[in-house]
Amino acid sequence: MLKRLHIKTYGCQMNVYDSERIADVLAPHGYVTTASADDADLVVLNTCHIREKAAEKVYSELGRLRQLDRARRARGEKPLQLAVAGCVAQAEGEAMAERAPFLDVVVGPQSYHRLPELLAQRARARGAVVDTAFPVESKFDHLPVASTPSGVSAFLTVQEGCDKFCTFCVVPYTRGAEDSRPVAAVLAEARALVARGVRELTLLGQNVNAYHGHGPDGRTWGLGRLLRALAEIDGVWRLRYTTSHPADMDDDLIRAHGEVPAVMPYLHLPVQSGADPILAAMNRRGTADDYRRVVDRLRQARPDLALSSDFIVGFPGETDADFEATLRLVEDVGYAQAYSFKYSRRPGTPAAIMRKQVAEPIKAERLARLQALLQRQQQAFNAAMVGRTVQVLVERDGRKPGQRLGKSPYLQAVHFDAPETVVGRLVDVHVHAALPHSLAASCGERPSMGAVA
Ligand code: SAH
Ligand code: SF4
Ligand code: F3S
Repeated sequence: MLKRLHIKTYGCQMNVYDSERIADVLAPHGYVTTASADDADLVVLNTCHIREKAAEKVYSELGRLRQLDRARRARGEKPLQLAVAGCVAQAEGEAMAERAPFLDVVVGPQSYHRLPELLAQRARARGAVVDTAFPVESKFDHLPVASTPSGVSAFLTVQEGCDKFCTFCVVPYTRGAEDSRPVAAVLAEARALVARGVRELTLLGQNVNAYHGHGPDGRTWGLGRLLRALAEIDGVWRLRYTTSHPADMDDDLIRAHGEVPAVMPYLHLPVQSGADPILAAMNRRGTADDYRRVVDRLRQARPDLALSSDFIVGFPGETDADFEATLRLVEDVGYAQAYSFKYSRRPGTPAAIMRKQVAEPIKAERLARLQALLQRQQQAFNAAMVGRTVQVLVERDGRKPGQRLGKSPYLQAVHFDAPETVVGRLVDVHVHAALPHSLAASCGERPSMGAVA
């Protein structure tokens, strides 16, 4: 009998990737995905623990789903099965099963390949089945080949976990130690994705540029070498990777930006703060000038490179002068896009118990100032595209008839009128307006189509 599966995803791109793999794992057991929890037999919440707000959302969603389940039981219908996966599941484990006793399964990011088994166990168990072990064997050895449909662009996890232990961050605890997938496994998954029509790969890792995978030649490969090998695959037109740590940008990787045309000239390189004492207290392993130097080297290798970043304001001990240093760094580097957050105290992390926590109104004021600056930079970056010809990878139809939608090398959404046949191709378009969330463009009479120029 077919069963309906609804997965709700929170947090980072790796969770998006994991949710697709969860669907792949359950598919052979008769589960088909559905867009809404209302008609689902099983709901999986794939959760994020990074900030307090993200984690709280999970409990309010669980409350809502519990109501849905009660209403169904009251009508004599089939009860809803509920599983929590991801980083909140990992961080809370048994405590979550106690706080939400109506749960069926709590499963961490390293064990979701066992979901069918855990659901079967649940049928025999009294309460929720919890699996938050960090198994010695990689889950990747047990995952089926990807089968969920993806468009022209897909994520591919190459590295997971983090050994950096930034003092604010839960990821080293929720995702465990750094681990890289072997080169052969990455290449095999890439080929399988390309065979299904994927043309753009975004390599994922919590610390993706710390990649050190076992190569077919018996040596350890870095990310630069992996990118070169992926670019050799026929049908791989665009390559991206995220998220990188500035301390792991090695020479070969920087060179790859200049030498491999498929590597897109756009890089997410989080810096968090522009003040050296704060960077030290965060355990970021480098100064603001170290970061500036990495950016310079990248731009020497690839002059049209644009950057995005993450920032935290109001880290414990952050003074006005420290915050001004962050604004200065933003002015110096110039970002195409960025995410910024108020520091959120996470239980169990060193920064949570640091003295000199910053008051909420100060955090709010700093965040507003930083976001205004970043917003101006983003608008200027987008406005600078007007009048230029941009190569777009066309992903799908737009909302209006005749309209197609794709992404520029800088991940800007671009819409333009063109025949349906351009979906899945690279086309050159002429940008004529920068709108708040996209670029408006037009396609020439004879669009140039094909692989990377
Ligand atoms: N692995 C990535 C990012 C992981 S989390 C990296 O190393 O950059 C994504 C972003 O969330 C971080 O870059 C940071 O800016 C933010 N973040 C992490 N922990 C946070 C906390 N406790 N409070 C506020 N923001 C946080
Ligand atoms: Fe968290 Fe730092 Fe690791 Fe990024 S590098 S995941 S911010 S500990
Ligand atoms: Fe969140 Fe876990 Fe990703 S905490 S940001 S889902 S690694």
